Amino acid sequence: MSHSHPPAPLAARRSGPLMGRVRVPGDKSISHRAMIFGLLSTGRTTVEGLLEGDDVLATATACRALGATIERTGEGRWTVDGVGVGALLPPSEPLDFGNAGTGSRLMMGVVAGHGITAVFDGDASLRKRPMRRVLDPLVEMGADVMDAAEGGRLPLTLRGTADPIPVSYETPVPSAQVKSAVLLAALNSPGRTTVIEREATRDHTEKMLRHFGADVTVTQEGEHGRRIVLEGRPDLKGTHVSVPADPSSAAFPLVAALIVPGSDVVIESMMDNPLRTGLLTTLLEMGADIEVLDRRSEGGEDVVDLRVRAGRLKGVDVPPERAPAMIDEYPVLAVAAAFAEGATRMRGLSELRVKESDRLAAVADGLALCGVTARIEGDDLIVDGGAVQGGGPVATHLDHRIAMSFLVMGLASETPVTVDDGTMIATSFPAFSGLMEGLGAKIGPAA
Ligand code: S3P
Repeated sequence: MSHSHPPAPLAARRSGPLMGRVRVPGDKSISHRAMIFGLLSTGRTTVEGLLEGDDVLATATACRALGATIERTGEGRWTVDGVGVGALLPPSEPLDFGNAGTGSRLMMGVVAGHGITAVFDGDASLRKRPMRRVLDPLVEMGADVMDAAEGGRLPLTLRGTADPIPVSYETPVPSAQVKSAVLLAALNSPGRTTVIEREATRDHTEKMLRHFGADVTVTQEGEHGRRIVLEGRPDLKGTHVSVPADPSSAAFPLVAALIVPGSDVVIESMMDNPLRTGLLTTLLEMGADIEVLDRRSEGGEDVVDLRVRAGRLKGVDVPPERAPAMIDEYPVLAVAAAFAEGATRMRGLSELRVKESDRLAAVADGLALCGVTARIEGDDLIVDGGAVQGGGPVATHLDHRIAMSFLVMGLASETPVTVDDGTMIATSFPAFSGLMEGLGAKIGPAA
């Protein structure tokens, strides 16, 4: 898919105190998986709180192409009538995932485990991202990569197998997408598949497998890792999925409330999965004024309401083993760090180089443009906190989180911050500008 909208530059200006209560949209990871598990189940899956962003809609379109009947029944409410494991239809058109790494990689697992062939494509950002990390184990399980762009990138053609070989696979990088692709391929395997990860990553696939009726066991592996064992060919049955609010989206109003003087904001029903909340841990270490008002369970996930008040932050050293639990939050953490006293060192960020953009470079460049001293040392990012000048336009490289992070920065910088394009925000958080404006943030088209 080409990036079809013309770029829309946005600006954020120094704002008065942010005030109010917000609930951010549904979790992107869980929303993708709700569609995919709906496809792979027999009967009807009902979803509430689905993130209706471009990434998830691309996954829904791909699920339709493989045989699911999917309908929107209300805001965030969807039904998926699946076909069941082993019964997918061959798609007649290329599957276009736009900007969505998760959608494309998870669906590669789905296709690899079925006797069908599919063409995978995406936008300029997705076409740059590494796919071998997913294709290597899928080929080990019996799939064939018939055609691919240089380095195994999109567009590529994947031919799956109706009898995927059960494997024992240790992921070479900490990646929930790689883990999930192997587990999804293994669903149609006539045996037991094991995935080992040295560092635990988000566990939504494992939880959802169990929720839809598969037999999965998860045990500790070493100090930080997990071993996941899945029995193949389960009878997955459609069920109800309630999608909690996305902590990766909540990160933006959260950091904004911390850095805009006088702010007092409540963030409602944020998913509180420990494999996703590394940012919260880090901000608390920085001295952030964040109070947990209520912790409860909603639809199988723990959720919390957070009261966030602006105040002084101090620089910290963020250990590398925390990276998987906050991998998408480093750009906005770097913004918080820019306003903190002293330096923040974020260690072990190699995976940031292969996100929707090279986020390590994009963050360092954007900070420098806005007068913040930041440097990359090996795989570490070091940000010196202090007064933030502002400036731009920051290059967002088709990356929603770079756009939102720098807009948050502009709410508290001396002069406005502009970003070159805000259209990609629609991939994960279409309501971002409106929700932030509702709190008092000054965000709008750049002059
Ligand atoms: C995701 C996993 C992470 C994350 C992405 C969503 C998922 O990617 O960055 O936004 O839903 O599985 P990696 O698996 O590449 O770390």
